[in-house]
Amino acid sequence: MPEERVVSPNLTEEEMEEQKLRPSRLCNYIGQEKVKANLEVFIKAARQRQEALDHVLLYGPPGLGKTTLANIIAMEMKAQIKTTSGPAIERPGDLAAILTNLQPGDILFVDEIHRLNRSVEEVLYPAMEDYCLDIMIGKGPSARSIRLDLPRFTLVGATTRAGNLTAPLRDRFGVISRLDFYKEEELVTIVKRAARILDIGIDETGASEIGKRARGTPRIANRLLKRVRDFAQVKGEKLITRELANYALNIMEVDNLGLDAIDRQMLLTIIEKFKGGPVGLDTLAASISEETSTIEDVYEPFLLQLGFIQRTPRGRVATSLAYHHLNIEDERDEKTESTLW
Ligand code: ADE
Repeated sequence: MPEERVVSPNLTEEEMEEQKLRPSRLCNYIGQEKVKANLEVFIKAARQRQEALDHVLLYGPPGLGKTTLANIIAMEMKAQIKTTSGPAIERPGDLAAILTNLQPGDILFVDEIHRLNRSVEEVLYPAMEDYCLDIMIGKGPSARSIRLDLPRFTLVGATTRAGNLTAPLRDRFGVISRLDFYKEEELVTIVKRAARILDIGIDETGASEIGKRARGTPRIANRLLKRVRDFAQVKGEKLITRELANYALNIMEVDNLGLDAIDRQMLLTIIEKFKGGPVGLDTLAASISEETSTIEDVYEPFLLQLGFIQRTPRGRVATSLAYHHLNIEDERDEKTESTLW
């Protein structure tokens, strides 16, 4: 994962500062209105019945607030949260240790849940469904299995790829919520809130410019705000205006739609090296020296949302919108284009 990328939604050492910016209550969470409205009802109902909340699966591109929501769920349920991730739970015994240490009502947050291995997943099924753990004792003919009861807990799983989850795991979540890219006005509100918390001077036009270029992602909006603040500070400016935000974002090569140098390189590669595509994911990844998973999870979702690329059975294709954005003439005639799709 490209840690140094300005618009990368991956966490860096700025993580701590970002924690401060995360809302801790549902009422302070901006955007994702449908997800929020549903969760509010489910949380209230579970609390009224004095039960643990049903298991929740949150999915969507990185940086949209899955971890934040998991923490908010715990706060609203007045429950403790234990946080782990799919790749961190290597063996069934690791999961058994986590599960047997839970208290009634606890939230177990498993990030990147699509990366759990099968043997671990199998321990999770009875834990989620019947709150119990089947443990094998001994080996060979004398082996027997004992069943341990677990406290009623809530699993909150997060994934960038709901499609990679096995059906039995997906079916055990009572609530499945998809997080979408944020609207520009929501990002502007998020930027203004973050500026207030970090004591950064910004006017409406400055917040609007950052919101516009944050590729629908709060984590990127907050990161851009902090970088623009650096430019303001060095220039001796007290207030971030549109002019200053524009200046800083242009230097950082974040364009007017929020695409950065790597997004543009990916589009240019499809257009110039592969005549607009289709080009297979592996070939594309090798051409721009990125992991296929990074392309799929980080770059592609927003380019797909903009309609700049399409996924076809034969690979990725750049659309005429992408040509237009990059000021390149699309010489493919419409007939060729339609046969590609
Ligand atoms: N900071 C990051 N994401 C946020 C959100 N959705 N609402 C408020 N502040 C945020």
